[in-house]
Amino acid sequence: MVIRLIGAAGSDSLDRVSRFAHPAGDRHAEVLPEERPPHAPADLNGLDPHIWPRTAGRDGGAVTIGGADVRDLVAEHGTPLYVVDEEDFRSRCRDYREAYADGDVHYAGKAFLCRETARWVMQEGLGLDVCSGGELAVALSVGFPPERITMHGNNKSLAELERAVEAGVGHIVADSFEEIARLGFLADRHGRRPRVMIRVTVGVEAHTHEFIATAHDDQKFGFSLGSGAAAEAARRVLALPQLELVGLHSHIGSQITDTAGFEVAARRLATLLVQIKEEHGVVLPELDLGGGYGIPYVEGDTAPDVKVIADGLREIVARVAESAGLPVPRLTVEPGRSIAGRAGVTLYEVGTIKDVEGLRTYVSVDGGMSDNIRTALYGAEYTARLASRESDAEPMLSRLVGKHCESGDMVVRDLWLPADLATGDLVAVAGTGAYCRSLANNYNYLPKPAVVAVRDGESRVIVRRETEEDLLRGQL
Ligand code: LLP
Repeated sequence: MVIRLIGAAGSDSLDRVSRFAHPAGDRHAEVLPEERPPHAPADLNGLDPHIWPRTAGRDGGAVTIGGADVRDLVAEHGTPLYVVDEEDFRSRCRDYREAYADGDVHYAGKAFLCRETARWVMQEGLGLDVCSGGELAVALSVGFPPERITMHGNNKSLAELERAVEAGVGHIVADSFEEIARLGFLADRHGRRPRVMIRVTVGVEAHTHEFIATAHDDQKFGFSLGSGAAAEAARRVLALPQLELVGLHSHIGSQITDTAGFEVAARRLATLLVQIKEEHGVVLPELDLGGGYGIPYVEGDTAPDVKVIADGLREIVARVAESAGLPVPRLTVEPGRSIAGRAGVTLYEVGTIKDVEGLRTYVSVDGGMSDNIRTALYGAEYTARLASRESDAEPMLSRLVGKHCESGDMVVRDLWLPADLATGDLVAVAGTGAYCRSLANNYNYLPKPAVVAVRDGESRVIVRRETEEDLLRGQL
C-alpha cells in the first residue's frame, strides 16, 4: 500500500504522504483474515443443537426457547432481550455434578450472576465462586450457604476479605503475599480460622485470547510456580496457625477447547501438593482446577466433554498423589461459561439495513456493544438467525451491528442472513448466556436489557430492564 505524507515541511503537493491517514476505500475488506467470510450455512433457518439452547426449536417458523415463542417474548418484554433457558442452565449444572460426583463443582458467578441464577445453582447442589464483594452480596442475599462459596480476586480489598471471613465462606483463594498477611490479621480480629487456598500460576500456555489466558507467568494472577513464589506462599500460610491451608488452586484461562492445558495444570498442581508434603509434612486435602471449558459459538467449534475431562483430570491427580503415597485430594472445578453460555440467547429487533455495494449488508439492531461487548473486546464470534419467521431467500453476507457511536460496535462480524430480511424482523444471537449481561454497560446511555427466564412455555423477568430513571439515578 502506498502511504503518503500530508503536511510535511515544504510540502505543497497533495501527493505527500501521511503515516497515519489513509484514503478511505475498500481497504478494510482487505484486512479481513483469509478464512473470512465463513461459508454460508447449508440451512439459514437451522438451529445447531451444539450452539443453541437445549430446548430451542422452531414452531410455525418462529424460534421457540423453553417452549416460548420469541415473538411473544418480545411482545411482552421488548428488545433487546436476554433470554435464559432455565432447563439448559440447570441441566448443565447436573451434568457437572454427575461428572464430579466425588468432588465439588462451583459455578463461576462472573459468567452471569443474579439472584435467580444463584438460586438455581444452590438448588442444583453446586457451590459458587465469587470474585468481588458485590458478587458475594448477591449470593448471600438469597441465602446461599456460605460454606459453599469460594472468594476469589487478585486484589480483594480489606473490606471484601473481612466480609468473606465474617460470612464464613468455605474457601478464600489467596492471590498475593499482602493478602495472606491481611487474612492472618482478620482471622485474629474475628476469632475465625478461614480455609485458604493458594492460587498457583502453573506456567501453561492456554490457547485462547490473550485477555482471558491466566496461567502464563507474565500476568497479574496468582503465585508463580516456576519462580518458587507458590511454595513461598504455602510457607507463609502454614506459618500462620489462624489460617487453615486446605489446598491449591489453578485457573489457566477461559474458552479453552484443547484439554491438554488442563491436564498439564493438574499434574503440576498435584506435584506441588507432593512437594508441600515433603517440605512441611502437611497433606493438603483439596485441589481446585478452576474453570475455562470452552463452548461452541459457531459451526465447526468443538467443546470438551465434561465427563471425559473429569475422568482424565481425576486420573492424572490420582496417579501423582498415589505414586507419592498420598491420599487422592478432593477435586473442585469452577465452570462459568460452560454452564451459563449456551442457555442464553439475545433477541434484537432489526432496524436499519444498509447494503454496501460489493462488500456486505450492514444490519443494525437495537443494542450492540453495551449488551455484548465480547465481539469488540475479544474478536468473539457468534451465530445469529432470523428468529421471528423462517425464510427461503438467498443468503446475504452481512454484519450484525449495534446502535452505538463506534464502528467497532459489532455483534457478529461476519454472518449470512436471508436476503429478504426486513426492518422489524427479530434476530436471535446464540451463546450469549455468559459474559454478556455481566459485561453489559451503559455506553451512550443505553439502558441494560431485561433478562427473562423461560421454562415450560412460561417466561419470568429475573432482572428487569433498566429505565431512563435508572440511568439518571445517582447524578447531581
Ligand atoms: N475460575 C476463575 C478463578 C476464573 O477467573 C474464571 C474466569 C472462571 C473460574 C470461569 O471461567 P469460565 O469457565 O467461565 O471460562 N470475560 C471473558 C471471560 C473472563 C473469564 C474470567 N475468569 C469472556 O467474555 O470471554
